[in-house]
Amino acid sequence: MKFLKIFLFLFIIQTQAQQGGMWIPSLLQGMNEKEMKSLGMKMSASDIYDVNKSSLKDAVPHFNGGCTSEVISPKGLLLTNHHCGFDAIQTHSSVEHDYLTNGFWAYKMEDELPNEDLEVTFIVKIEDVTAKVLDGVAALGTEVEKQNKIQENISILGTSIPKESGQENKIKTFYEGNQYMLFVTETFKDVRLVGTPPSSIGKFGSDTDNWVWPRHTGDFSLFRIYADRNNRPATYSKDNVPYTPKHFLPISLDGVQEDDFTLVFGYPGKTTEYLPAVAIEQIINELNPAKIEIREKALKVADGFMRKDNAVKIQYASKYAGIANYWKKWIGETQGLKKSDAVAIKRKQEIAFQEKVIKAGKQAEYGTLLADFEKNYAEISPYASSRDYFIETVLRNTELLSVTYKMYQLEQIYNTKGEQAFTDRKNNLSNGLGEFYKDFNKNVDEKVFEQLLELYATKSPKQFLPTHLININVQNLTAEIYGQSKLIDYNGAKELLTGDSKTVLANLNTDKAFQLVKEMADKYLKEVAPKYEKINLKITDLQRTYMKAQLELNKNSRIFPDANGTLRVTYGKVKGYEPKDAITYKPMTYLDGVLEKYIPGDYEFDVPSKLIDLYRTKEYGPYGKNGKMPVCFIGTNHTTGGNSGSPAIDAKGNLIGLNFDRVWEGTMSDIYYDPSICRNVMVDIRYVLFIMDKYAGAKNLINELKLVHPKETNKK
Ligand code: ARG
Ligand code: ASP
Repeated sequence: MKFLKIFLFLFIIQTQAQQGGMWIPSLLQGMNEKEMKSLGMKMSASDIYDVNKSSLKDAVPHFNGGCTSEVISPKGLLLTNHHCGFDAIQTHSSVEHDYLTNGFWAYKMEDELPNEDLEVTFIVKIEDVTAKVLDGVAALGTEVEKQNKIQENISILGTSIPKESGQENKIKTFYEGNQYMLFVTETFKDVRLVGTPPSSIGKFGSDTDNWVWPRHTGDFSLFRIYADRNNRPATYSKDNVPYTPKHFLPISLDGVQEDDFTLVFGYPGKTTEYLPAVAIEQIINELNPAKIEIREKALKVADGFMRKDNAVKIQYASKYAGIANYWKKWIGETQGLKKSDAVAIKRKQEIAFQEKVIKAGKQAEYGTLLADFEKNYAEISPYASSRDYFIETVLRNTELLSVTYKMYQLEQIYNTKGEQAFTDRKNNLSNGLGEFYKDFNKNVDEKVFEQLLELYATKSPKQFLPTHLININVQNLTAEIYGQSKLIDYNGAKELLTGDSKTVLANLNTDKAFQLVKEMADKYLKEVAPKYEKINLKITDLQRTYMKAQLELNKNSRIFPDANGTLRVTYGKVKGYEPKDAITYKPMTYLDGVLEKYIPGDYEFDVPSKLIDLYRTKEYGPYGKNGKMPVCFIGTNHTTGGNSGSPAIDAKGNLIGLNFDRVWEGTMSDIYYDPSICRNVMVDIRYVLFIMDKYAGAKNLINELKLVHPKETNKK
């Protein structure tokens, strides 16, 4: 009996532990720590986060605000993804030094390359400041007054809470405004490029393999943090020295196998895990399909041109990747939400919630929440849809319209802020035109315009269509605009921006593209955006109360705060999955798979000849296992955008992998985490070491690392 109880207890913990969650590192003691230990962790919560001694958090800085990185040597060597270092690598690349194509390795520290706009931020300490932020708020009457008081408290606290020089206080809200945490941070601004594999390794598989398992990408790059002589943050100087970290991650050479414990530590950007069912229905049925259809058309056009013309391919490669990334994500997300029955599950939870509200006698406070959600989501629907059509068509996918929209804003600035603001913005715009038109191809954009305007005119909510677009002949409109607008090339655009405000605005207003954008934008800004924002504010307010109610009524359950760009811990196990009936995915890939995908000369699947040679001779050194070279693996860690570059850490605190993506079927984890199909994708750290050592011959870097054998030590 007792045995059965223990078994059941363990079983419950085990299954619960697969439920996802992104946890605040300073609050792991208790339930999380217990769960992590039940999954095999051998560390304590204070090994992960501690303010009094060095801990894992001291090795995990935010990488330029959008990605995660980790310190892996006592000399400040930093590991992150290739796609996170991409901008820096591209900036240093030229025809003579094409680091994107050929890779780059600094064999001496003097060769490491400084980067102007690159910084990393460490967390020094995290503190709950909810009481201080909410001080004096409850007594206030309206929601607007309350929010103003909160903002005022936050800005006073930001400066009054003590911090050392070089540090910053940042206060962030958790649980939709129900909890506030202070982050004391330290930002280093001298971060140099140390090494990167060629794109044929670091971006292997490119868009075709993006969001997909099985994966074979060596998505990593290396940087180094430099500090002043006192080891303090400093802007770039040739006198700066490599930073000595409070902690760096030892690297395990023992590798992973299915069911091994994994912890992913990083800065997830944004999730919405507590939406009501009605909101998810709207995403599945209305918003995602529209955005997917728009991008699908735009991508198809670009792809057609890119395949025919190498110059266009270069112009559009990066833009294409950006648009394709979320296009593909939304498709996976929609399918995943359907497959996992997210709406039905939420509806069930909502019935249970309603019963709890009644049982707790809280009808007055929470009784109408769900009905209010239904009402407001119904009301926002046409506005949300119209907003997405406008953003995707005008601002994101049709380049002529997005550059023209900037001209439209210029006119708005003149109308609201006057001459000086106009001139400043005009000069700014003028200076950016070269960059924009360098990668602009009129023929590509004209086709995109034609396709997207057709969609806009026929599918976006009719009541918000500008009169001009009702029953429009899109072919004629396209011919007219691309035949007559001055904005289709650099010289024309430059000319339109020449002169004083009167001349510029008069000329702009005779331009066909400007006239169209003005009509569309006026309609959007007057009839859609204000109403959308008003209802959305109401929804945000409801969401805050809904969150408060859930926290209050489910005191014992695991409710994690939505991602908000702050440092989080997520944990799970190395695990395969079954994406479809009769298909099983194993959790690990090998170099054999790279060669299986190899297409000589292809821009996505080419393989460097040196890597092929290493594969043939099986020169894997200490990094291979049983004659095979591991490449990637997947796990049940709950991650999202921003977790790219996050360290995957073993039971004892050693680095085993580098997070860079999720599997396609599980990309709905931003909205609903289903443990059966949600997996994060990591590069095996042994592949990173193999590329550094055997492919690049960067022994200088390998010698800095602390390589360990935690599993072998176990056996002894
Ligand atoms: N899907 C990954 C993450 O969101 C990697 C993106 C970079 N790769 C690409 N092919 N666009 O954002
Ligand atoms: N690829 C993402 C990133 O860049 C990670 C993810 O969405 O899983 O942060």
